[in-house]
Amino acid sequence: MAFPKRYTALLVVALAALVLYLARTRGYRGYHAFKPQRYPAAAAPPYTAAIVYLVSVMPGPRDPDDLLASLPLMQMNVPWRHQWPVLLLHAGAYDTTESQREFLNRLRASAASQNLTPDATDTLIRRIEFVPTHHELPEGIPPDGGADHPIWDGEWPAYHHMCAFFSYKIFAHPRIRDLTYYLRLDDDSAVHAPACLDPFEYMHTHNKSYAFRRQSPDLGWVTEGMWPFVSNYAQRHPAVERRLQDNAWTWPAGRLWPGEGFAAGANFPSYETNFDLVKVPRFRTPEMRAFLDELASDPRRFYWHRWGDAPVRLAEVYMFLDVEKEVHQMCEVPYAHKGLPFDDCECVPLQPPAQRRK
Ligand SMILES: *[C@@H]1O[C@H](CO)[C@@H](O)[C@H](O)[C@H]1NC(C)=O
Repeated sequence: MAFPKRYTALLVVALAALVLYLARTRGYRGYHAFKPQRYPAAAAPPYTAAIVYLVSVMPGPRDPDDLLASLPLMQMNVPWRHQWPVLLLHAGAYDTTESQREFLNRLRASAASQNLTPDATDTLIRRIEFVPTHHELPEGIPPDGGADHPIWDGEWPAYHHMCAFFSYKIFAHPRIRDLTYYLRLDDDSAVHAPACLDPFEYMHTHNKSYAFRRQSPDLGWVTEGMWPFVSNYAQRHPAVERRLQDNAWTWPAGRLWPGEGFAAGANFPSYETNFDLVKVPRFRTPEMRAFLDELASDPRRFYWHRWGDAPVRLAEVYMFLDVEKEVHQMCEVPYAHKGLPFDDCECVPLQPPAQRRK
């Protein structure tokens, strides 16, 4: 036949172009195979995060042995997608380069003894950031307040500072307030076995606002006044009352009876905040800030009655978040506190973003 080969070739090319064009305009699914991935590996993460350890509250040195054991486990057993900073909040313990260098040398030794690879050790060291953080006694609380027999004067006032800090001050901390997420761990926290997912990626992928590891009641004698405080606040803020109802909140008996003594001595539910994973903007909404201001307005709550950040965190979550949608019990991450392992659940790996797309 006289039809030149040249034309055949042109026809084939034109047909192929037409097929591709149609596939693209009609959203033919097979076409995606030709497309480059939408999330290249180098893309900037869509959020920011940090791990937070409060390593000292009062001036002066502090024994870092527990912390030196906790950090390498955290590095080794979590498949971090991004190596977010590890903030060591300290009250002057690491103000000098010398004290920092000594700490990092000991951290290297601890990492080696836990069989971290040299690369993983270097990565961990690079993540460490020493953040000076001072804790002042609020107005009305005298420095010798411990001698005044508050309900609990153990570790006065370091423990009380710690509770106030994690309950509300942390959300205004200059190094933390602009983050998307922080994960608080304590020096006696241990990710004691490999986890299959990165906690921050989990929060982002599942659009969660708060994750805890275990829930348990805090005792009535260190939560005195907390039930009436939350109850009064809810009565004055109908949106909070509704939110509590939607979250299936239950009150101790006698809430709406006039008179003193509502829920006196009753335990208050709490999240064990030695593992505390927070989406910061959800704790900086105008509604939450108004509540935190009111919480802070009477410092005797923390310094006299020794309210803890564990029940306070649970109250914040139930008063302002949608628990079913926004809260996750992160039992996928093997975790122990003070040497005691918590119950774990099956860990289902997160899909990489390119496959996650439907
Ligand atoms: C993610 O959660 C927030 C609440 O924190 C909610 O307002 C928002 O609609 C959610 N986004 C999606 C895509 O579900």
